[in-house]
Amino acid sequence: MWKLFIGILSAGNHFAERMAARKSWMQHPLIKSLNVVARFFVALHGRKEVNVELMKEADFFGDIVIVSYMDNYDLVVLKTVAICEYGVRSVATNYIMKCDDDTFVRIDAVIKEMKKVHSGGSLYVGNMNYHHKPLRYGKWAVTYEEWPEDYYPPYANGPGYIVSYDIARYIVSEFEKHKLRLFKMEDVSMGMWVEQFNSSMPVEYVHSGKFCQFGCIDNYYTAHYQSPRQMICMWNKLQQEGKAQCCNMR
Ligand SMILES: *[C@@H]1O[C@H](CO)[C@@H](O)[C@H](O)[C@H]1NC(C)=O
Repeated sequence: MWKLFIGILSAGNHFAERMAARKSWMQHPLIKSLNVVARFFVALHGRKEVNVELMKEADFFGDIVIVSYMDNYDLVVLKTVAICEYGVRSVATNYIMKCDDDTFVRIDAVIKEMKKVHSGGSLYVGNMNYHHKPLRYGKWAVTYEEWPEDYYPPYANGPGYIVSYDIARYIVSEFEKHKLRLFKMEDVSMGMWVEQFNSSMPVEYVHSGKFCQFGCIDNYYTAHYQSPRQMICMWNKLQQEGKAQCCNMR
């Protein structure tokens, strides 16, 4: 049986975003049948009250993995490692997907795409960037200390990508040996780890623009920057009309 684990990056105070995902795409029958497992990955919050609420929510829904450090952009990459770890250790899965809590995932379309490209070997699937360079100026600047190279490796955009189990297992094993290089952008980090893995085992890179990075396009596999209302609206369109259409209100 074909299995997928989905790790969703979220933040302590994003209760509304998590509820929208739970009430929309996470209602998919493949989740009910346990062939697809989805978990939110949340770090501790600076405010204790938020953490108390988070623990209650985690107990109630049973779909939150609390990673034991404070939330901080530079540490987001550790959540990606935690997703790989959970996918490797805690569920039986063939593929591990990472998305954000404002990503709408069309689970059956993602699985159909995976079945189409599945070759039995190692896979890295998403909206690929090739020959991208770090921004050296401005608010999101990357210093030479953080990233000395002129180019990033090929990498899939962070809001929705998938790796095969063997790649995730390699990442966890390198992390445990303290050999995993970490970079603050989690998607670029994944590209770097896959590139390393590919130097000894061939990886098939699969690009699809249907893993939308900026918003939504009709017939999407994943859509990004979706508000809770949009998530519900998109789910209704899928349920009622069988159409993968975008919802343009906020
Ligand atoms: C993966 O490895 C192969 C063999 O070394 C190489 O030809 C290919 O360019 C690599 N792919 C990427 C995207 O790095």
